[in-house]
Amino acid sequence: MATPSLSLSITLLLGGLLLPTTSAVHSDKHSALFTFGDSLYDPGTNNYINTTTDFQANFLPYGESFFTCPTGRFSDGRLIPDFIAEYAKLPLIPAYLKPGDHQFEYGANFASGGAGALVESHQGFVIDLHTQLSYFKDVVKLLRQKLGDKVAKQLLCNAVYLISIGGNDYLARSSIYQSYPIGEYVELVFGNLSTVIKVITRSRVHGLVDSCAGSDAWGIYEEGGRKFGFVNMPPLGCLPNTRTQTPGSTGFKDGTSACCGSGPLGGVYSCGGMRGIEEYELCEQS
Ligand SMILES: *[C@@H]1O[C@H](CO)[C@@H](O)[C@H](O)[C@H]1NC(C)=O
Ligand SMILES: *[C@@H]1O[C@H](CO)[C@@H](O)[C@H](O)[C@H]1NC(C)=O
Repeated sequence: MATPSLSLSITLLLGGLLLPTTSAVHSDKHSALFTFGDSLYDPGTNNYINTTTDFQANFLPYGESFFTCPTGRFSDGRLIPDFIAEYAKLPLIPAYLKPGDHQFEYGANFASGGAGALVESHQGFVIDLHTQLSYFKDVVKLLRQKLGDKVAKQLLCNAVYLISIGGNDYLARSSIYQSYPIGEYVELVFGNLSTVIKVITRSRVHGLVDSCAGSDAWGIYEEGGRKFGFVNMPPLGCLPNTRTQTPGSTGFKDGTSACCGSGPLGGVYSCGGMRGIEEYELCEQS
């Protein structure tokens, strides 16, 4: 079943590694933060879609250490986009699909646990990357209406774009691609990821972002410096025991086993006991 399962341990791992790069987010005013991706970045999107508990984390003990209640994040606390928002002095950015009157001046989070770059990855259970992109376009439209073209453009040009995607394409290769040679499959995944990144960055989003820096396709990058964040693919073949070799140096006590789960190294995806296996162990809180 895999997918969102990885999130707890990986999130903790990457969370520690990525923090130093967040200074790039700072600007004289606030920068908006737009987030796309999978369970590593999902702030609760899947709470609001018709899916199964395999793709949800809106039950205890998820969320218990920071929010004191489950939020839908596949973590006991915050995720990378939350930390980055905090460092950038933004409020935490809620799930785009969360009902309510969103402002979007601080950005939006479209990430969905289990999602891949390919529409077929966990199709029907997640919000795939292309749909996330279409939501982003809706937000752009809304911002233009609300703020006017000039201010909206400035906001989008200054914004930081975070993307975490791909793991699920490899962990849950759809049956229609089982017979593809791996090289071709990787090209498919990368092709789709590239397409989406190009739309976000260059953007053909109503010609708006395109004009950040003249006609240069990669203008936003050149103009604004480091405004994109991509997480590296973790060594998926090592799961469930993707570990940090030096837990102490990254602020962890245990680099070997997952904090919540069952079976060897806590690698069985049963955290919370809501996914067909009731048994799970939880590590001690510090
Ligand atoms: C939710 O999904 C289930 C299973 O796929 C389906 O039977 C049900 O009709 C769906 N409910 C809604 C409200 O879409
Ligand atoms: C994107 O993925 C689809 C399958 O979902 C595939 O048909 C298409 O060729 C891919 N696009 C690129 C540019 O690789």
